[in-house]
Amino acid sequence: MAQLWGGRFTKETDKLAYAFNASISFDQRLLPQDIAGSRAHVKMLAKQGVLTEKERDAVLAGLESILADVEAGKLEITDKYEDVHSFVEANLIDRIGDPGKKLHTGRSRNDQVALDMKLYVRDEIANIDEELAELLGNLLQQMKANIDTFMPGFTHLQKAQPTTLAHHLGAYFEMFRRDRGRLADVKKRLNLCPLGSGALAGTTYPLDRAYTAQQLGFDGPTRNSMDSVSDRDYVIELLSALSLVMMHLSRFCEEVILWNSNEYRFVEIDDGYSTGSSIMPQKKNPDIAELVRGKTGRVYGALTSMLTTMKGIPLAYDKDMQEDKEFTFDAIDTVKGCVRLFSGMLKTMRFNKPRMEESAKHGFTNATDAADYLVNHGVPFRDAHGIVGQLVLYGIEHNKALDDFTLEEFKAVSPVFEQDIYEAISLNTCVEKRNTIGAPGHAAMQAEIVEAENYLKQK
Ligand code: ARG
Repeated sequence: MAQLWGGRFTKETDKLAYAFNASISFDQRLLPQDIAGSRAHVKMLAKQGVLTEKERDAVLAGLESILADVEAGKLEITDKYEDVHSFVEANLIDRIGDPGKKLHTGRSRNDQVALDMKLYVRDEIANIDEELAELLGNLLQQMKANIDTFMPGFTHLQKAQPTTLAHHLGAYFEMFRRDRGRLADVKKRLNLCPLGSGALAGTTYPLDRAYTAQQLGFDGPTRNSMDSVSDRDYVIELLSALSLVMMHLSRFCEEVILWNSNEYRFVEIDDGYSTGSSIMPQKKNPDIAELVRGKTGRVYGALTSMLTTMKGIPLAYDKDMQEDKEFTFDAIDTVKGCVRLFSGMLKTMRFNKPRMEESAKHGFTNATDAADYLVNHGVPFRDAHGIVGQLVLYGIEHNKALDDFTLEEFKAVSPVFEQDIYEAISLNTCVEKRNTIGAPGHAAMQAEIVEAENYLKQK
């Protein structure tokens, strides 16, 4: 055991207690962030005259070589060390001797780990944002290709009004666009540097916190050293934003699974994103979509766990906070994997356009338009609603869509109907007449696609 402490102890740590306490098995992924933080710290210490330039250069070279050796597989991170911070410091001292012992001047692992985690989350926000931008690009392609693909729109999973596939996909475009906005927002609030807060009460060394903050790409230093070492709000905000990403993916997956079913047949998932059955030769299952839907629970679990972990912690740092890492790492890995897989599945999915259009023609999806026709001919909407309700009942009894009624059948319920009713309730009219902002009509949808294209070009 290579520990950073021990002077005041007379006994070795119990083996189980040591293992229980250690975080090296998972916090080793913070190595690049830990080294970056130490580099900024040691530069600042030299600038402030706490370390000599010679000592600084020795530390910088030592840190550089540790990172290079780990990346090259020449140096192994083992459980001989309690955490990534101990690993770096012990190896630095091994390599450069006394200057290495000065690295931790004016620093605590409490502000160090707070910094590492912020740097890690900030990097991953950028990575997840890239994955989401890629997904949005794929969505936009499908929207452009399906601006005139008619399909039924649903409420209560009952056919409601006709719409287009571009319009339906466009709803998800908006969701993922908001997700990117939320992630950017998390970054805005987290981007203050905790380094220099010490264990909790700052330090007596003349640290230049603004300098380290600037070195590490932060907007400035955090404002209260106790808050700095015990704030994990940004982790919770991240997990909340990621939970929403998963919620959106999960809803989308649910639809893909339904649409891919034998009953719907709206889509066919590519073989590359489907799996077979070990017993039923005919099966082609949407496992990837199901797994993405399933993994949503994992990310929600991380959010709930972190909220619960943080709720009873007195100021300032307590070891409970070490629990932030595994949840957060897992949630980030899960989301990145799911977005990427979903994106690929969407790109290769085949949409059964004739089937969607046929489905839109049935289920009386044009009933609202028939009522609107009457309204346009002077009938109050409530009365029109009743009249069309009677027509639908007649249609159900006679197994006939409104489009297939004779004019006499229309007139039997209301004399207001004339020959132009057929044009008024055709699928094409039903969709095309809907051109208010955000509606599925061709012109309205085209405008949204142009807007979406410009948005994707910006970021
Ligand atoms: N491994 C610890 C964590 O992840 C580092 C901070 C340790 N600080 C301490 N006072 N024991 O939170």
